[in-house]
Amino acid sequence: MHTGEQYHQFMLASRRDRVVRDRFQKMALELLPEGADVLDFGAGTGIDAKAYAANGHLTFVHEPSAAMCEYLAQYCRDEIARKTIIAVASPLTCKVQAVTANFAVLNHFADHTALFEELSRVVQQGGFVLASMLNPYYLGDARYGWWRANVMNLMRSGRYAIASESRIHRFAPHVVARAAAPHFRLERRIPRGFGWAVHLYMFLLFRRV
Ligand SMILES: C[S@@+](CC[C@H](N)C(=O)[O-])C[C@H]1O[C@@H](n2cnc3c(N)ncnc32)[C@H](O)[C@@H]1O
Repeated sequence: MHTGEQYHQFMLASRRDRVVRDRFQKMALELLPEGADVLDFGAGTGIDAKAYAANGHLTFVHEPSAAMCEYLAQYCRDEIARKTIIAVASPLTCKVQAVTANFAVLNHFADHTALFEELSRVVQQGGFVLASMLNPYYLGDARYGWWRANVMNLMRSGRYAIASESRIHRFAPHVVARAAAPHFRLERRIPRGFGWAVHLYMFLLFRRV
């Protein structure tokens, strides 16, 4: 099990993860109106939160893991002291233009219906939820028995979970979109075309309707 600091160092040292994070942050920052408030849901050690705050966005962070929170408090101590990053025990305590959930936070949920209902009370109309989730079609996983064993589940139900990866679920985008309706509309899915075979993560952008 990673401590917050181990997770943090690992993520910053991994070139592949840094590239994915840069793309995600760039997309979030391009979508965010100037000065808009954001909630980083499942914020981990605060890597994205620090970047959003540095770009002038008041950033709320929600993170259930004590180890992650502890390191976030250290890594973002200046922003927390200046109140440009604010930790919240429940998303419902803030009202924001956008919610971000980077690096598979939503894969910890077996179903997203209740989550999107909750987020509909957090995100202002016209705002968005941007999530990066494990891509269930990623061919790099096809070398694993669990992937091949779940291909039929994926085709039939658009979802599967792996017993050895406790509480990690994989979803086709349309399954998450169904859970997000009627509060959110799936506006963009990335990658496109052949990208679905070669990218470990997919980005899903949901617009609050
Ligand atoms: C792979 S980490 C990603 C952390 C961070 N978003 C990042 O970009 O580094 C997944 C995070 O999801 C959080 N998480 C797990 N279950 C959650 C839940 N039910 N609600 C919110 N966050 C959750 C974990 O505590 C963990 O920090």
